[in-house]
Amino acid sequence: MTLTVQPFDAPLGAAAAGIDPRAVDAADLDALKRALAIHGVLVLHDQRLTPAELLAFSRRFGEIEYHVLDQYWLPEAPEVYVISNIVENGKPIGNPREGFGWHTDLSYMPLPTAYTFLYGIETPATGADTTFCTIYPATDALPAALRDKLDTMTARHSYAMLHASRPWAAPLTEQQKARSPDVFHPMIRTHPITGRKGLYLGGATCVQPLGLSDDEGRALIEDLYDRATRPEHTYAHQWRPHDLVFWDNRFVMHSATEYDRARYRRLIHRTSVRGEKPY
Ligand SMILES: [Fe+2]
Repeated sequence: MTLTVQPFDAPLGAAAAGIDPRAVDAADLDALKRALAIHGVLVLHDQRLTPAELLAFSRRFGEIEYHVLDQYWLPEAPEVYVISNIVENGKPIGNPREGFGWHTDLSYMPLPTAYTFLYGIETPATGADTTFCTIYPATDALPAALRDKLDTMTARHSYAMLHASRPWAAPLTEQQKARSPDVFHPMIRTHPITGRKGLYLGGATCVQPLGLSDDEGRALIEDLYDRATRPEHTYAHQWRPHDLVFWDNRFVMHSATEYDRARYRRLIHRTSVRGEKPY
């Protein structure tokens, strides 16, 4: 089979076809990684993937990252993280409020996520879009003086800060805290496949530029998020059941959107693949 990609009428994202995620050879894998490095987001419709098949496909891209919140690991496959509003026997089967606010995945890890895979099993008829933006237009349009400064800057990425910004979330266990000490990444990173440089912003509530006061740091982050996430840089994915959506977190940010939780069930299986140390 040969991969074909049909770019969306958007600044990023493409529909992929001609690939069976359950039978990917080395050439397919290479083509998928290159397509992700160009289009940022790929969508494969009408997939039927067991958790084991989703995992096996994800593993072809690299080492699986376990999510910090172990209470939402899929019991039979803990590398699969469950996003859902479904409650069974009085217990949520997944994280009901995952992914709101623009971010890249797991930037607070020493080796942040390179690729994220979301497989939609139950998806609301309306709402719950996943919105994506490419970081490159904003990076390329930075004023020269700001760009020069950012080229030399490092930021702290902190899961503790992120968690503190979510008052509804359960307190972290000591083990969860130990798994997520603060890490430091450059504010402009290089894509390992294309060599292209782009802002690396993590999540607005977990990133703190070094060498600035708290107020200056917050103002800079707000300004960069505003530049990066303008509507003309985005694509909103409207889910259909059995969509497999995956993206390259090294230059793509994303954000969840709300849906009618009383009316619709949502069940998403997610896997994350660890990348390199940002440089
Ligand atoms: Fe995310």
